[in-house]
Amino acid sequence: MLDLILRNARLPDGGDPVDVAVKDGRIAELRPEIDGQAAETLDAGGHLVTPPFVDSHFHMDSTLTYGRPRVNESGTLLEGIALWAELKPDLTAEAIKARALRLCRLSIARGTLAVRSHVDVSDGRLPAVEALLEVKRELAPHLDLQLVAFPQDGFLRLPAARANLLRALDLGVGVVGGIPHFERTLAEGAESVRQLCEIAAERGLPVDMHCDETDDPNSRHVESLACAARRLGLEGRVTGSHLTSMHSMDDAYVAKLIPLMAEAELKVVANPLINITLQGRHDGYPKRRGMTRVKELAAAGLDVAFGHDCVMDPWYGLGSHDMLEVAHMGLHVGQMTGRAEMRTCFDAVTTTGARVLGLEGYGLAPGRRADLVVLQCRDPIEALRLRPPRLFVLRAGKVIARCAPQRVELSLGGETESFDPCAPAV
Ligand code: FE2
Repeated sequence: MLDLILRNARLPDGGDPVDVAVKDGRIAELRPEIDGQAAETLDAGGHLVTPPFVDSHFHMDSTLTYGRPRVNESGTLLEGIALWAELKPDLTAEAIKARALRLCRLSIARGTLAVRSHVDVSDGRLPAVEALLEVKRELAPHLDLQLVAFPQDGFLRLPAARANLLRALDLGVGVVGGIPHFERTLAEGAESVRQLCEIAAERGLPVDMHCDETDDPNSRHVESLACAARRLGLEGRVTGSHLTSMHSMDDAYVAKLIPLMAEAELKVVANPLINITLQGRHDGYPKRRGMTRVKELAAAGLDVAFGHDCVMDPWYGLGSHDMLEVAHMGLHVGQMTGRAEMRTCFDAVTTTGARVLGLEGYGLAPGRRADLVVLQCRDPIEALRLRPPRLFVLRAGKVIARCAPQRVELSLGGETESFDPCAPAV
């Protein structure tokens, strides 16, 4: 007896609709017209089924604080950091946890079941670490939350940062973060990369650093990060987040840098919504876009995922934690409108994100955990075009979110018709 059969679902790679059989929380089979008894049957109605969305870069401790204690009037990264510093002394673990739980409800409703969140460890009380470790434990049946120890105020710049970061790791935070471009000098940035990667190597942990989140073409910590990964044998376990300086670097230098990043098997996370709004702020016209070289990095064989980064916090006053919105922005900013390129952008918020996070049991294949999202569309490119409702979200074969298909009643010329706004348009 099967636990569940999801009937009539289209797979991301195309072809005729299939049924998905689930047994003991895992995918047992994917093929047309599966026979057999199941405790529950769902009809996907010929819509797309995907593995869940993955947010590879987020800040769960600052989310939903928009307007507290004031809004970011300049809209710049540095005013955002200053604003976050104003807010931090009043933060309690209780309030951080309540906001994070609210955010996760939105995430799950939109089919995002894995999130990597950076957690600011600059405050020695570590309220965000305490709060988010609780959120991680409580939501573990429904959502994979990875936490990164993030020294937002600098690792060498803030005297207590090292001790705070090590304590956060001792408490169970599982990834080592950093912010080398925010250290006082280029040399101190490089030194912070060295020290942080050594901490990760000693403890057997992955690394995910905010790296070169600036328009300065001479901010070159990604080079240090790639070298440290190779020197310490951390290939494939180090992620560079943002890397916006790469947008502004000289092409000759990038021609050497990308192969170095590939040798180090560096993972890359771009944050299109935030990069396009925060970067290029000091430019006159023409204004740089600031997003890293997604197309070129992906072409070189690197895993390039997308993150949402912020939702309603000191850096970004918008956002609904919909990873399709992120992918949609990414493909526009990166001018990735070819069909294969659009698919790369869809993968950046699904399968590539899962590789960056090292998620086990992820994907649509027998034996994988039955984490599934049914969208009101027929293929990944339609998903990007429409950002449609998530009709079903399943975790380990159990429906944890559902909504009715969207329909519109149109009244024109005295007649009313009802139609599906997500139906194929051509
Ligand atoms: Fe970030």
